[in-house]
Amino acid sequence: MSEKTNLIGELEALQKKAKKELTALDNPAALQAWKRTYLGRSSPVMQIFKRLPEAPKEERPKIGQFANKIKNELEAQFNKQEAAVHQQALSASLQQEKLDVTLPGRQPARGGLHIATQILREIYSIFAEMGFQIYRSPEVESDAYNFELLNIPAHHPARDLWDTFFTTEEGIMLRTHTSPGQVRAMRDFATEPIRVVLPGMCYRYEQTDASHEFQFNQVELLAIGKNITFADLKGTLEDFAKRMYGQNVRTRFRPSYFPFVEPGGEMDIECFVCSGKGCSVCSRKGWLEILGCGMVHPVVLRNGGYDPDVYSGFAAGLGPERIAMLRYHIDDIRDFWANDVRFLEQFSG
Ligand code: FA5
Repeated sequence: MSEKTNLIGELEALQKKAKKELTALDNPAALQAWKRTYLGRSSPVMQIFKRLPEAPKEERPKIGQFANKIKNELEAQFNKQEAAVHQQALSASLQQEKLDVTLPGRQPARGGLHIATQILREIYSIFAEMGFQIYRSPEVESDAYNFELLNIPAHHPARDLWDTFFTTEEGIMLRTHTSPGQVRAMRDFATEPIRVVLPGMCYRYEQTDASHEFQFNQVELLAIGKNITFADLKGTLEDFAKRMYGQNVRTRFRPSYFPFVEPGGEMDIECFVCSGKGCSVCSRKGWLEILGCGMVHPVVLRNGGYDPDVYSGFAAGLGPERIAMLRYHIDDIRDFWANDVRFLEQFSG
């Protein structure tokens, strides 16, 4: 028997043995073990290539080709068996683990509107019923609109009430209140009658506490026309309070000073926490201030393009977060923008 016949015979015997073992395998782990044994780098088939020098020189190419053929055939047989085992496992699992399509699906978690958005929408709809439209004005304002045109010249002490965040551009700042929108709306509509609500975010350099944030919403109310009086202002705001909190709500008006109104006032709602006795939420007053208001100052009317001898109007600036606090008995305004879902999801509707 020559070396050649020896190696070829070895290969044939090997193929027979490997094939027999392969057809008996029925799980992925055993298949992988088989692959390592018969097709791995130190498997007998691969070793044949190293042992070629044992054969006469002229026979080596033939033996090499034969070894390659055996290797390819074993690979093909392995792939076939692997596919068969996989298919078998799949059919078995389909048989055993039947899918119950009648089970109810899992509900995906649903988002909701932020409590501030909900209260803003409620405020809009109350005023919409009274004929007020929404008018949007910028959050980044000029000194002129935020102060000057509202009768608050530079160095006026009232500016101290509304310290804010200034941009690096001279005279440009984050608005401290929604009142600058009054002049913008007037200049847009002059000299038509106006009934608008101006909502949006305001910013103040503020010491925060249970009822003060440095970022909060306001809704400005503005009505301009002929023969508008303080009685219209008071009636509108009292009606608003009743629609928001119910007929028995207790409100009070106090005189107050704002340079852009004359006369000016503030409206309070009885504190929900202490029922008027005085606590930390209402700063021991028994009342929570929800808005500032007044008759539009003649200087502001003129700045907006309305002749104060012919036209008059009222304005108010409401605090929606404070209004929501009273409505839902929230005892700290800082919860609104702290982004704690445990707070927010209580109002997800
Ligand atoms: C003003 O901002 C005036 N522009 C309101 C106004 C408009 C007066 C039109 C006259 C005519 P004041 O600073 O008081 O006023 O704020 C108005 C309301 O905004 C307050 O009643 C309160 O509800 C809310 N508010 C004010 N500061 C804060 C704050 N730091 N955090 C939360 N809400 C606030």
